[in-house]
Amino acid sequence: MKAVVDTDRCRGHGICWSICPEVFDLTDDGYAEVLTPDVPAEYEDQVRTAIASCPERAITVSQ
Ligand code: F3S
Repeated sequence: MKAVVDTDRCRGHGICWSICPEVFDLTDDGYAEVLTPDVPAEYEDQVRTAIASCPERAITVSQ
């Protein structure tokens, strides 16, 4: 699984980071960045939760 944040959509809600800080971080400006684009298998469920929880639908994944 590869995770991507659409920086045009992200509004800095930070929910992704609060759910899975192992994969998502926040920049100094408060927007999400992906720390580990190749998501380790043990974090895939948390990333799916983060995707569903982002109000801006800014996170997508591909296999
Ligand atoms: Fe941005 Fe959504 Fe995370 S708005 S900070 S990708 S919860």
